[in-house]
Amino acid sequence: MTKSRVKKEEDKKKNNLKSLPVLSTLKEGLHLIGNPPLSVICIMRKVHFPAIKLTSEPNTHKYFTQRYGLFSKYDEGIQLDDESWYSVTHEIIAQHIAYICRNCSIVMDGFAGVGGNVIQFAKYCKVLAVDIDKSKLEMLENNANIYGVLSNIKCIVDDFLNIPSHNCRVDVVFASPPWGGPGYLNSRVFDISEMAPKLQEILRACEKIAENTILYLPKNLDPLDIYRIIMETHLKYKKIEFQVISKASAVS
Ligand SMILES: C[S@@+](CC[C@H](N)C(=O)[O-])C[C@H]1O[C@@H](n2cnc3c(N)ncnc32)[C@H](O)[C@@H]1O
Repeated sequence: MTKSRVKKEEDKKKNNLKSLPVLSTLKEGLHLIGNPPLSVICIMRKVHFPAIKLTSEPNTHKYFTQRYGLFSKYDEGIQLDDESWYSVTHEIIAQHIAYICRNCSIVMDGFAGVGGNVIQFAKYCKVLAVDIDKSKLEMLENNANIYGVLSNIKCIVDDFLNIPSHNCRVDVVFASPPWGGPGYLNSRVFDISEMAPKLQEILRACEKIAENTILYLPKNLDPLDIYRIIMETHLKYKKIEFQVISKASAVS
């Protein structure tokens, strides 16, 4: 393919994404500290937790109404467990994050869950999908198969903090760790110290694996907390970019 053709294809993809409802309402704020190439990009989203008790019957809880926002191919046999119904990344946001990584060869998702992000990454590149919960990765494989991207994904059942740096080059580590439960919904500022695993440990693990890290975190996080953690933990990141997703229509 000629260079101009490649560019045209890329622009087309970009425009397609832009024409989708959620991305058109994305507000991106950019804060740069230092110089590239080592980078952390924090994609922050509005904190949103269900007010009602989740049950294992998907059609009885409110997230069922958002099923096509989570997975557009939901009806083809997508599998989610209770936790995933509220913690999976909405498809349109996952597309946005994956597009940032469109030129990567290998991305590692350290908290892969049932594959909301992994499936979108796998449309562009190879993905190492890590999760501590084997049953989630089994659902991920089922879901990735529905999207026709399973051949680009390798699942690893393990604690992300114990993952050794791989022999192969990983371009970006993506981490959407658990945010700590609904309790912090009432806080004006997300209490980063409540996270388990701790963000310090997550970033240390990320740094060992790749030069670039993308974190997916709640929007009420204070960006300075991230900066402080990087400084205090003596991490080598030189560039931090924050993209704030202020309103995703997929989140009602
Ligand atoms: C917020 S969910 C990720 C959702 C995922 N991005 C998606 O769209 O499907 C967090 C995931 O981290 C996993 N997890 C929690 N602690 C972990 C650890 N120490 N190592 C690896 N995975 C972990 C949980 O099992 C859960 O699936």
